[in-house]
Amino acid sequence: MKLSPRLKMVADMVRPGVVAADIGTDHAYIPIYLLQNQICPRAIASDLRQGPLENARMTIFAAGLMGEIDVRQSDGLDRIGAHEAQDIILAGMGGNLIVDLLARTAWLRNSEKRLLLQPMSHAEDVRQYLCDNGFKILFEQACFEDKRVYIALCACFADAPLPCFSPAYYYIGELPANGTAAAEKHIKNTTGRLTKRISALTVADIKPEEAAYLRAIVKEIPNHRRTRCADESS
Ligand SMILES: C[S@@+](CC[C@H](N)C(=O)[O-])C[C@H]1O[C@@H](n2cnc3c(N)ncnc32)[C@H](O)[C@@H]1O
Repeated sequence: MKLSPRLKMVADMVRPGVVAADIGTDHAYIPIYLLQNQICPRAIASDLRQGPLENARMTIFAAGLMGEIDVRQSDGLDRIGAHEAQDIILAGMGGNLIVDLLARTAWLRNSEKRLLLQPMSHAEDVRQYLCDNGFKILFEQACFEDKRVYIALCACFADAPLPCFSPAYYYIGELPANGTAAAEKHIKNTTGRLTKRISALTVADIKPEEAAYLRAIVKEIPNHRRTRCADESS
């Protein structure tokens, strides 16, 4: 199984030796790659819809991995048991759907689990959800594929109080620490997207509070670093 750069980026974040669950797997490329490369002893390939599950079954059958990869119909993690998988992959979905699926799965609040998240949009909402709900973003990756930049986050539940984060953190997260050309490009794209939104609001002369909020974020991004709540640092 040769993965595209985006899927390879996600697969490379899985910890060797664990059971991985790929939620919204579609073709099951990631679980097959994980088994074929002996990264995982077993995996779960799950999807909400029958069509993708059929794709997954056919690809897994062709790879001779029916015994190692459990194909399962599930809405998010609803039919995945807490003890069945350690690394949970949610890739190729919108950030809002990822947040919805994480929010209704209480057993993810366990520091032994890893969340490997690859939002196609609204990454800021995913980061904010994680930070507001006691999850720590451990690191982020970025890659180029077909002239687009994709990002992926690795997070886990922190068994400790978390600092508050500046709004700019929700937009660029741990990407500055990543330091690759793809990460830099994603930060630049994010700044461009925010700047466009500010211009549109300014020209239309609407939502001055939102424009001011976004302006402050754009200003902070170049010198971004985590900032603690005023009451924590005092
Ligand atoms: C665009 S595909 C992404 C496939 C693959 N993960 C990737 O990154 O290339 C999104 C998949 O998520 C599935 N999906 C959408 N909502 C879902 C849900 N609530 N629970 C599980 N899977 C879902 C869709 O059926 C589809 O197969």
